[in-house]
Amino acid sequence: MKHISLSIVFLLILQGHLLVSCGSTDEELLPVPEPDSRPLKEISSFPVGAALSISKMKNIAGYSGLVKQEFNSITAENAMKMANLSPAQDRYSWDDADYFVDFAETNRMRIHGHCLVWHNSLPNWVANYQGTKEEWKSLLRDYIHTVVGRYKGKIASWDVVNEALLDDGTPRKTVWYNNIGWEYVALAFQYAHEADPGAVLFYNEYGQEYSKVKLKAINDSIVKLVKQGVPVHGIGLQMHTNINHSLDNLVDAIVVTSETGLKVHVSELDIALNPNKNTAYQPTEKDLNEQMKRYRIVAAAMMNIPAGQNWGITTWGLSDNDSWLTSIPDHPLLFDKEYQAKAAYEGVREALLRTDY
Ligand code: G3I
Repeated sequence: MKHISLSIVFLLILQGHLLVSCGSTDEELLPVPEPDSRPLKEISSFPVGAALSISKMKNIAGYSGLVKQEFNSITAENAMKMANLSPAQDRYSWDDADYFVDFAETNRMRIHGHCLVWHNSLPNWVANYQGTKEEWKSLLRDYIHTVVGRYKGKIASWDVVNEALLDDGTPRKTVWYNNIGWEYVALAFQYAHEADPGAVLFYNEYGQEYSKVKLKAINDSIVKLVKQGVPVHGIGLQMHTNINHSLDNLVDAIVVTSETGLKVHVSELDIALNPNKNTAYQPTEKDLNEQMKRYRIVAAAMMNIPAGQNWGITTWGLSDNDSWLTSIPDHPLLFDKEYQAKAAYEGVREALLRTDY
């Protein structure tokens, strides 16, 4: 009897061993999963975008093709600035902006409008304008009503005021400030809201990642406006950064801004490899890797903020061929000059695909 039961135990063990072996054999036979090759817009839980040039959209097939493949949000790099939209008093030039809006509608992309009020890219007629405070307010109101009104319901969000603060947190002395006073900021948001009550309105600024003083000043100023009832809905962090900036500061800028409870948009992201502007610079693998780490950590930081506050990430340009920094020379974006994905792109993908946030 004892002999029989030992045989049964032996058989069971043998069977178990076979099952285990079968299991591992099966596993060995399982097909290796294909690498996930879905584009950014398909793997991202928040909008991903780029700032675009209209002439490149019109003339370079690979450029528009890559935009359509990867992104679901677009910003006009220059076409919606005041100098471009209103070259002369009471005269508007809509062709490029209209083309941009049509492109986004055809391809079902979100548009982030950039930018209504800035000290730069002003038309000469505004830079030289002489008028009373009331006349300046009226100029500002007419411009914002005309532009935001034209694209009401088509442009999801606007950078209403861009770069109104200096690094020390005090107001920048722009034509708007000098002629209207700090009140121009609140008025601009009010006018934009009147023209399109459905648009999400941003204050856009640079430097949050390198100056804690400026980061605090921006957030305090905007929260104060919100408490006063001014329709500001979000803060844009331009984040024109470089491989020498610390990873921690990039994350802090996003986290601290999200603590305002407002929407957060990384609105002009690029990560320069050559901040010292060496004219003979060639990218090294080490630098490209440092760049990748920073892209990855910015995307991961955005994954960590509440979904309702996340307006997404927009890179400032499409490929290294298209950046405002390229003449330095530099290679600050996700795609190289041949529109091929760089390590930086893989860094963003890794952060977007992670599920353990
Ligand atoms: O299109 C004209 C061209 O016809 C002319 O021949 C040429 C001569 O200079 O100028 C061309 O326009 C230039 C335009 O870029 C397009 O290349 C403007 O002079 C030049 O001032 C403009 O620079 C832009 C800059 O803002 C000023 O508006 C950059 O492309 C753009 O990347 C940059 O973007 C800014 C954001 O709006 C705000 N945050 C900072 C960011 C980087 O500076």
